[in-house]
Amino acid sequence: MSPPTTTPAAGISAADFSWIQDFVRRESAIRIDEGKEYLVVSRLGPVAAAHDISDLGQLVERVRAQPRGRLSVDVIDALTINETSFFRDVHPFRTLVTDVLPELMRANAATRRMRIWCAAASSGQEPYSVAMAIHEHLPALLGWDLQILATDISRAVLARAAHGEFSHLDVNRGLPASMLVKHFHRQGARWRISDDIRRMVRFEHTNLIGPWAAPRGTDVVLLRNVLIYFDDATRNDILHRMRQTLVPGGYLGLGGTETTVGAPTDYDRVTLGRSVWFRTLQEPPL
Ligand SMILES: C[S@@+](CC[C@H](N)C(=O)[O-])C[C@H]1O[C@@H](n2cnc3c(N)ncnc32)[C@H](O)[C@@H]1O
Repeated sequence: MSPPTTTPAAGISAADFSWIQDFVRRESAIRIDEGKEYLVVSRLGPVAAAHDISDLGQLVERVRAQPRGRLSVDVIDALTINETSFFRDVHPFRTLVTDVLPELMRANAATRRMRIWCAAASSGQEPYSVAMAIHEHLPALLGWDLQILATDISRAVLARAAHGEFSHLDVNRGLPASMLVKHFHRQGARWRISDDIRRMVRFEHTNLIGPWAAPRGTDVVLLRNVLIYFDDATRNDILHRMRQTLVPGGYLGLGGTETTVGAPTDYDRVTLGRSVWFRTLQEPPL
């Protein structure tokens, strides 16, 4: 039998790389492109070490044998890209509090209920930015039945998010100094978000390709900088299901590049200031 073809610099055989690509796609819809062996090696090396596994060939064997085990969860976690920052892209957070939520508050005045879902929330900067923006600019909403749900496939980032602790680098990216002073306190080299803001957000695990934690009747969904990792069919399926989750007249916010490339066509595109939103106007399709 000939030895497996291994790219020496990459440290993973072609067959194992291909198996990991398929496994991650099947479990999370995340595409790992050809040529990304270095990424897989650098991300899975520490996972192998933590599980006392000497090489990636053995790691793949173990995941194959127990695809529902802890190791598999750690493999998927390690291959997610969790890049995020407070008030990322600024403008959507502005128009959320100047236009989107005020409009929905008028629509929901009778029920005084508001449901917001950050559907790929990473380490929490996005949902906490929403909570701080509401605290600052729409305090009336704090007296409503307000729920900010934050979900992600990665249990590791969710745990960090729920803890609400950030590095110096994190709070230096996008967070206005006034908000740092008002809503964080320093704990050594870390910054802890105030309980007032932390309690406004509920964190739950949700894989966007499986059943969702968010109920129908959600008013605003932020689904930012995640669809770019999926293929067209998965993206369309998620956007279609999102319409059923959103209330008629509800708003969907995507990431900057996602509003042009592969933007949903069956929502109304609404340009507000310097940000783009997608609104569901019709009754959701069956
Ligand atoms: C690049 S981050 C974006 C974070 C935030 N929305 C933002 O724009 O700053 C993408 C997030 O999507 C999550 N993700 C990837 N695939 C997912 C899936 N199938 N279901 C749920 N979350 C997923 C990743 O774990 C990661 O935290």
